[in-house]
Amino acid sequence: MSVLSLLVTFEGPEGSGKTTQIPLLADYLRERGYDVLCTREPGGTAIGEQIREVILSSKNDSIGHETEALLFSAARAQIVAQVIRPALAAGRIVLCDRYADSTIAYQGYGLGLDLEALRAITTFATGGLIPDLTFYIDVPADIGLARKKGQAGSGAGEMNRLDQKEMAYHTRVRKGYIEMARQAPERWAVIDGTHSAAIVQKTLRERLDEELKKRGI
Ligand code: TYD
Repeated sequence: MSVLSLLVTFEGPEGSGKTTQIPLLADYLRERGYDVLCTREPGGTAIGEQIREVILSSKNDSIGHETEALLFSAARAQIVAQVIRPALAAGRIVLCDRYADSTIAYQGYGLGLDLEALRAITTFATGGLIPDLTFYIDVPADIGLARKKGQAGSGAGEMNRLDQKEMAYHTRVRKGYIEMARQAPERWAVIDGTHSAAIVQKTLRERLDEELKKRGI
């Protein structure tokens, strides 16, 4: 694998602004001459997009927790093999909207599935590929959900099956992220997502610049 490659993942609750921030960060990197690939979970491949539809459809309320975890992991296995690993091998910077930490946060901390079992499943799915840097854009669950609902009202966003879960679930998810970030501070960067989009973008750029410099990229 080329020393230039870097896997950066973005985590955060609904309405944390990941979808706005990632393309802006990609533009910034491209302007500086880096070869960047943006991708998203669950999806990013034709097979992954089909799996995404099954998971997120309001029609599938009866989906079991284990089924949900395995489907997310199946989509991830596909994107890692088909998109992420080849891009890293080609020396690109990969910006991925959600990754294995989402399964630990949502299906583990959120739904209460066994964390060790989920770690084994996600490791199997990714072949052990761990991000070099993970941004967690932190916003309290009520603010994130209110933002997302506001977007849905204006037609700019949509509330999927998982967004509609109760507030306590989203609060557990947030706690999970904060716990994971605390356990591995060398990989995680926690960003305050309650600031304006411009300030969040500036902070992301500064942290990423630091990472590139540290690695001599
Ligand atoms: P999406 O509409 O892509 O939302 P977002 O913009 O918040 O990323 O829906 C993804 C949803 O799937 C989101 O609620 C988080 C959830 N999710 C899991 O529960 N587990 C996972 O492993 C992944 C990747 C996502």
